[in-house]
Amino acid sequence: MAVDLSQLAQVDTEPGELPGTMAAWVIRPERFGEPRDAFELEEVDVPEPAAFEVIVRVMAAGVNYNNVWAALAEPVSIMKYGDHPEFGHHIGGSDAAGIVWKVGPGVTRWSPGDEVVIHCNQASYEDVEVHGLDPMAAPSQKIWGYETTWGSFAQFTKVQAQQLLPKPAALSWAEAASYGLVYFTAWRMLITRAQIKAGSRVLIWGAAGGLGVFATQICRAAGAESVGVVSSAEKGALVEQLGAKGFINRNDFAGMMRKGGESPAEEKARFKVSRAFGQAVKELLGDAPDVVFEHVGMQTFPTSVLTVKPFGKVVICAGTTGYNLDFDVRYLWMKQKEILGSHFANAYECTKANELIESGQIRPVLWRTFGFDQVAEAHQLMRDNKHSGKIAILVGAAEEGQGRTAEGPGAINAEVGA
Ligand SMILES: NC(=O)c1ccc[n+]([C@@H]2O[C@H](COP(=O)([O-])OP(=O)(O)OC[C@H]3O[C@@H](n4cnc5c(N)ncnc54)[C@H](OP(=O)(O)O)[C@@H]3O)[C@@H](O)[C@H]2O)c1
Repeated sequence: MAVDLSQLAQVDTEPGELPGTMAAWVIRPERFGEPRDAFELEEVDVPEPAAFEVIVRVMAAGVNYNNVWAALAEPVSIMKYGDHPEFGHHIGGSDAAGIVWKVGPGVTRWSPGDEVVIHCNQASYEDVEVHGLDPMAAPSQKIWGYETTWGSFAQFTKVQAQQLLPKPAALSWAEAASYGLVYFTAWRMLITRAQIKAGSRVLIWGAAGGLGVFATQICRAAGAESVGVVSSAEKGALVEQLGAKGFINRNDFAGMMRKGGESPAEEKARFKVSRAFGQAVKELLGDAPDVVFEHVGMQTFPTSVLTVKPFGKVVICAGTTGYNLDFDVRYLWMKQKEILGSHFANAYECTKANELIESGQIRPVLWRTFGFDQVAEAHQLMRDNKHSGKIAILVGAAEEGQGRTAEGPGAINAEVGA
């Protein structure tokens, strides 16, 4: 049945009262595959908020790689996790800006009408880790809109109250929806895990991508120097604009990529290119990097371990090209290097990082803003690496600039892409 999208900018109920149904982009197991096929528009019932939950009217949503994985059902089907078995569908979307529409029992910090952005970490307040260690360590920890349904590619979304942050006033709905997941992840990787400081040298893979544009800006804000790895001169110009000291085009060192199953002779040849890459990094940074910012995984990880300085840190949050990593461990132990795993961020880190957006020290980097009818297409562009920076989706907002309530620089426009 065709879903009517003509009323997206118009909701019939006032804050405090929910309509019966809403338009939502839904992934179901029978459609798993390329994003263009996996997402389909459906009309679904609007959920009610339980204790300490909030229903937010989504004004704009942000596109992330996690729902490319959800569409593909790689490396696993998300339908087994979180609340998926209960509801039987996946409504993805782990970034949003919107208006609090209804609060559940126990919520006191937020009221209907408040303008918010949403961070994507959920955990049960009954888990002791939430109260003394870190919510990321809780057995109940889940990424909203990936490991749970009721994400942001819908007119309304259901979240825990602790996920809400004040919307930066100088940003439009689209700008405010675009940055949370990748920015907060990069923040934890660099500030909490790798503990960069003024003078640190950092190598950033995929520096013009979602994580990379924020890693580059965080380095600049912290007084650290960064070099970005990218796949075109245009993307290189973007990362220099964001504060990188320079960039390297990875196509100039294509031979360093680990493919898996190489012969000893091929391995030797690969190693030689990785060494040349490390030399190029040193020349740009003035020395080997103290920290390598990793998420590419299998293809680049051996080069990351080789390139990082003795006693340096490789901090990693993903394995986009493969998650079985192998590398010559002698370069790790002999040079006493560290590998640090990192995953999203806790509410406190999100709050601190969001303050730098509010003050304009870190800015969203928006490539394109699409209409709600283009959710599947936006994920396909990301899957095909045809974007840079971030993609936002208008949901309740009628146009791109809507939602600003204060003067400010807004987002940086990333011009590179398809
Ligand atoms: N654990 C977490 O909390 C967390 C949070 C956010 C994201 N992630 C994961 O991190 C990964 C990246 O996310 P993202 O949002 O930054 O994606 P993105 O916007 O697609 O950016 C990734 C960048 O990686 C580069 N790249 C792609 N293939 C490469 C290769 N073979 N070798 C070197 N560089 C390559 C591309 O840049 P060039 O083509 O310019 O090199 C691309 O811009 C995804 O797998 C995502 O799911 C994990």
